[in-house]
Amino acid sequence: MNNDKIESIKKELNGIFKNIKDEIELENIKNEYLGKNGKITSLSQLIREIPNEEKKNFGMQINELKNIFNEEYNNLKNKLEEMKILAKLNEEAIDVTLPSTKIPSGAAHPIERIIESLESLLMSMGYDVVEGPEIEKDLYNFELLNLPKGHPARDAQDTFYIKGEEYLLRSQTSPVQVREMLAHEGHEPIRIICPGKTYRRDEDDATHSHEFTQMEGLLIDKNITLGDLKGTFESIAKMLFGNTRETRFRPSFYPFTEPSVEMDISCFNCHGKGCNICKGTGWITVGGAGMVNPIVLKNCGYDPKEWNGFAFGFGLERLAMLKYGINDIRVFYINHDMRTLEQFDRREY
Ligand code: DAH
Repeated sequence: MNNDKIESIKKELNGIFKNIKDEIELENIKNEYLGKNGKITSLSQLIREIPNEEKKNFGMQINELKNIFNEEYNNLKNKLEEMKILAKLNEEAIDVTLPSTKIPSGAAHPIERIIESLESLLMSMGYDVVEGPEIEKDLYNFELLNLPKGHPARDAQDTFYIKGEEYLLRSQTSPVQVREMLAHEGHEPIRIICPGKTYRRDEDDATHSHEFTQMEGLLIDKNITLGDLKGTFESIAKMLFGNTRETRFRPSFYPFTEPSVEMDISCFNCHGKGCNICKGTGWITVGGAGMVNPIVLKNCGYDPKEWNGFAFGFGLERLAMLKYGINDIRVFYINHDMRTLEQFDRREY
């Protein structure tokens, strides 16, 4: 009679696992057979009632039932788990053929590009990049650069003064020359460039801005010649405007250099024939320069009998306008539309 029960459960076990669809059903079945009052568990309780000589055999049969159940149970449990993982993977699959969202990318500001290319060229020539304050002393911006109060050349740089006459918004990056020379106390060679913001009381129009950017260069050493300056300028001109550019110096005047020059490049547009960019001359002026005036050397603690050097200054908006074909300086400061940056002709030579 007890054996019949065992046989009938064995038969049941044969079929019950086939229809199970998920883990909940599986656990229910486990409970039905192996739970506290489960069918197999109840059989174990019968052991007490059967004669001793049958106990061993009966116990073995129950164990066999349990083993059969557990094997089926474990197999199915593993299978269900696998299916669950597969379903999840399917659900999370990424369709790589979907069109992507376009993430608008910016572009480096033209002034920044000019600064970076000048820096990398001049650093390769041994120059350090240094910065100076935008709020500057009149002493450094003018006085020690051989522009004493009342000097007519001051008028050309209509300056924003701050509270009286001692401090101003620097009108040029040249005061960084003074700061560097004073810092080196007259006994070390210097090779620096200094890009930065400068300010003048100009009316803003297509070619003037009250805020603009310059890059100053200063080299102090021994036995430096105008030829060294020319070679340096030539490297800069070719890097910015192409290897076929020619360069020339024209005599000029700056109080802090003697002699002073204007630095011209041959017109990249008409190659010297004359066009509206070079105003028919075939040449374009891109900066000022000269041999550092001995008065400035002396003012800044360098003995002009021992030391000399050259200085140069570029207006970076002008370089960027020429290089990228921009005809209104205000474009550099109107940043409300990313397309402004995208539209520039990014000609690289
Ligand atoms: N600071 C001059 C300017 O703003 C540019 C300049 C000219 C800088 C000649 C120099 C230089 O260092 O030697 O117009």
